[in-house]
Amino acid sequence: MAAGRGALVRLDFTGCLDGRVGRAGLSRDEIRRGCRRAAGGLKRLPRALDAGRSGFAAILDDRAAAAASVREGQRLGSLADTLVVDGIGGSALGALALQTALRPKGRRLVILDNVDPESVKARLASLDPKRTAVNVITKSGSTAETMTNLLVLLDWMERRFGPSHVERWSATTDPAKGDLLVLARRLGMPTLAVPPNVGGRFSVLTAVGLVPAAFLGIDVGELLAGARAMRAHCWSARPEANVGVLGAVLLFLMATKRRRSIQVLMPYADALVHLADWYRQLWAESLGKRVDRRGGVVETGQTPVTALGATDQHSQVQLYMEGPHDKVVTFLELRAFREAVKIPRRHGDLASLGYLGGRTLAELLTAEKRGTEIALTAAGRPNFTYLVPRISAHTLGQLIYLFEFQTALSGELYGIDAFDQPGVEAGKVAAYALMGRKGYEKEARRLRRELKRPRAVV
Ligand code: PA5
Repeated sequence: MAAGRGALVRLDFTGCLDGRVGRAGLSRDEIRRGCRRAAGGLKRLPRALDAGRSGFAAILDDRAAAAASVREGQRLGSLADTLVVDGIGGSALGALALQTALRPKGRRLVILDNVDPESVKARLASLDPKRTAVNVITKSGSTAETMTNLLVLLDWMERRFGPSHVERWSATTDPAKGDLLVLARRLGMPTLAVPPNVGGRFSVLTAVGLVPAAFLGIDVGELLAGARAMRAHCWSARPEANVGVLGAVLLFLMATKRRRSIQVLMPYADALVHLADWYRQLWAESLGKRVDRRGGVVETGQTPVTALGATDQHSQVQLYMEGPHDKVVTFLELRAFREAVKIPRRHGDLASLGYLGGRTLAELLTAEKRGTEIALTAAGRPNFTYLVPRISAHTLGQLIYLFEFQTALSGELYGIDAFDQPGVEAGKVAAYALMGRKGYEKEARRLRRELKRPRAVV
């Protein structure tokens, strides 16, 4: 498709081919076989989705829910220019990715995810209460960090506005259960639903991401249109010409046949740095699993690492170029930047300046990416590139759906459940127990015994 408004993200996998990268690469035949295997996964995936295990694809058609999110985001936007997002993990990373990528003007999100007292205090100090609204987001309605920051924020807002502060709040949570729902109803806060069959890390295109997006003035219609366009591609293009299927197949083959246990996602665009963080959570929590669907112990997963080009060429690339042969590098390359900055022609007689004058920053950044790609390939280090036409709400929607689809299909290839997160739950339970939550006494006793055991500290 030409590079118009709806042009799709493409995939250049030259750097994964054995003809280019040597023994670490894949033959066309292996890729074809991988695609055939993925076709089986593609048949199973709709069954998993229809069985209600995940609704990340179907939510794109819930126009009423999207409209409600837009209305709520705009309502908050009529009261404030700063929105505190009180949420963590899948309840915060998507909104941050959208803000960083789409750089809205005149509005900002302040993310309160961690409970580090120094940052919470600093973030509160940065707020002007009269210009602030709050969106508390927790699907379970009980995550310790979010509920703690909720208490801190309730107190902070109430002291400044009295009971009327409630109009500056919005709660996004499960539509039928959880303490946040109870509290929101008690206080009279508007609530928006996280569909029960959409897990946190797959929820950015529900109210979880759409309320903050609408607050920021992001074109939610375009975001969803981009996601739908990518959904149509992923479910209709033949596997070998399918960005989502091929991406999943290449990563699966690299992990299982070429011992590439680490995936480095490296955008060459500052705007995509938090999208990479969002992806890291999606990939890690979905595919890092102890057991497969039949209950067999597999301890599977590929460790996602993020890097930023060109900055991390000067910190991590040395390792990727010459260190252990355990990585596949996934680049994100922008075909067009939103800004043009020409490099001034000054002091052209100096060798390190003369060649730069008259070129553009985008030319330099793209040259850095291509140079790194060529050098990695020559060093026998597999890599591939998602080619992103430009940054817009439409392409962000595409990338979000593409990565969700690829992750879900990878779950099928590994034979694991990509939609649960027992490891995350274990951490949550431990926090409840150690902090004295009712109902967790037995776990608290076990953990206290554990804490009393001698420790190896020097
Ligand atoms: O993807 C997930 O399920 C998790 O990362 C959650 O988003 C995270 O733990 C926060 O959970 P909750 O939204 O219930 O507060």
